[in-house]
Amino acid sequence: MDKLFKGGKIVTATSIYKADVAVTGEKITLIGQNIKPDAETEVIDCRGKYVLPGAIDAHTHLAMPFGGTISTDDYETGTRSAACGGTTTVFDFALQDFGETFPDTVKRRDAIAAPQAVVDYSFHIGVKDLSDGIEDTMKDAVAMGVPSFKVFMVYDFGVTDGIFYRVLEKSKEVGALVAVHAENNEMVNYLTQKYIDEKKTSAWYHYMSRPEFVEGEADERAIQWAKNSGAALYIVHLANKQGMDAVTKARDEGYPIFAETCPQYLHFTRDVYKRPDGRNFVCSPPMKDKASQDALWAGIRRGDIQTVATDHCPFKKSEKNWGKKDFRLIPNGCAGIENMYPYMLSEANRGRISFSKAVELCSTNVAKIFGLAGKKGAIECGLDADIVVYDPKKNVTITNKEMHGATDHTVWEGVRVKGYPQAVFSRGNLVYKDGKFLGSKGAGRFVKCDPIKLTSPDLTGSK
Ligand code: URP
Ligand code: ZN
Ligand code: ZN
Repeated sequence: MDKLFKGGKIVTATSIYKADVAVTGEKITLIGQNIKPDAETEVIDCRGKYVLPGAIDAHTHLAMPFGGTISTDDYETGTRSAACGGTTTVFDFALQDFGETFPDTVKRRDAIAAPQAVVDYSFHIGVKDLSDGIEDTMKDAVAMGVPSFKVFMVYDFGVTDGIFYRVLEKSKEVGALVAVHAENNEMVNYLTQKYIDEKKTSAWYHYMSRPEFVEGEADERAIQWAKNSGAALYIVHLANKQGMDAVTKARDEGYPIFAETCPQYLHFTRDVYKRPDGRNFVCSPPMKDKASQDALWAGIRRGDIQTVATDHCPFKKSEKNWGKKDFRLIPNGCAGIENMYPYMLSEANRGRISFSKAVELCSTNVAKIFGLAGKKGAIECGLDADIVVYDPKKNVTITNKEMHGATDHTVWEGVRVKGYPQAVFSRGNLVYKDGKFLGSKGAGRFVKCDPIKLTSPDLTGSK
C-alpha cells in the first residue's frame, strides 16, 4: 500500500466509525482496524480527525461566457480553489452553441478543461438548440459519459416549453437526466421593465424582479411536465419555499424529482440586496426570504433536497460595478467553490445536520444521481481515493485573500466556519495541506458517468 490513513473516524452517508484506510495507487484498497503499514507506506496520522470522501460539486460555471463577460475562474483556478476546500470532482456546465451537436459541445469544452483541471471533472450539457436532428445526438453524449442535460427557463438562451418537453421525453430513451433552472422568464422581463420604468434600479430590484413566486411557479410547471413526460427531473439551485413544497409533494407521490440547493441560499436571505455592496450578491435565482431558507433546511433534514452544490460563477468587483446604477447590468453569479464543503461540514460540526448528512449532500448523492456511484462519492474499497482529512477543531474566518481561486471578492467574506479540511487527496495524490495548494495543473481527469435511470425518488437502490 502507498498510503495509510490511520486512526481517523470515517464518515459515510449512513454512519461514522473508526477505521484505517489504505490506498494503493489511485484507489482505496483496504478499510479495517489496526492495518499495519508496509515499510514504504506513508502513514497519515488521522487521530482526532474525520476521514471523508471528497466533495463532488454538481454545479459550476468555469470560464463561462455570461452577462457580457466571462466568469472569473477558469478550469485551473476554479478546480484549484475547489481542491483547497475539499472538493475533488466538479460538474461544469458546457453550454451548447446553436447548431452544435452535443458530443461537439463536450469536446469543445474538454479541450479547454483537460490541460487545466487540477481535480477530476465532468460536464452537464446546457441545451440551447434541438434543430436538424441535434436531439438524436443526446445518446452520443451519453455514450461519451455525459448523461446530463440542463435547460434554462430564463436568459437569452433559455429554451421554449416545447424544447424542454422534448429533452425530457428523449432523456428517458437515452438514459439521461434533465436538470432545470426554473424561473418564469415572462414575469422576470415584466417586473424588470416595471422597476426600471419606475427608476428603481438598485440591487434590491434584482430580487424584486425575481421574487419567490417567480421561481416557485416555474418549479411547479417544470415538475408538472416531468410528471406528464414520465421523466426524472433535477431542479438546480432551489431557493424558495413554494418550489420546495412542490418538490416534496411530487416526491411523496412517488415521482423521481430531485432538488439541489446551494450554501448561499442556506446562509443568506434577500436582505443582502439592501446592503451597499448588494450587487456582489446578485445571482439568479436571488436569495429569498427567511421562510424559504427555513423550508430549504427542513427539506434537507427530510431528504427532499438531495444535493448541495455551489453554482460557482464569480465575476470581478469591477464587473459587478457595471450595475451600480442599473441592476440589469450586474453579471449574475457568485463565488463559492472553495467554501461549500467547509460550510456544510461546519453546520454539521455545530449540530444543525449530521456529518453523514453533509457527506450525503455534497458527495454521495451527487455520485448516485449523476452516474458516478462505484467510482466516487464514498470511502469504500475500489473507489477513487478522493479523501479529505477534516479537522473539527480548526476554526476559520473566510476571507478572499486566503482563497485559492482568481476571484477578488467573495460573498463568504467574514463568515466563520467551525472545523476545516486539513489535507485533501485527489485519486491518492495530495493536493492541499494546511492552507497550501499542492496539486498540479492538468492532473484532473475527465470522468465518464454511467447512463442515468432514476425511476423513483429513492436513491438507496442506486448502484
Ligand atoms: O446567477 C447565476 N446563477 N449564474 C450562473 C448561471 C445560472 O443561472 O446557473
Ligand atoms: Zn441557473
Ligand atoms: Zn448555475
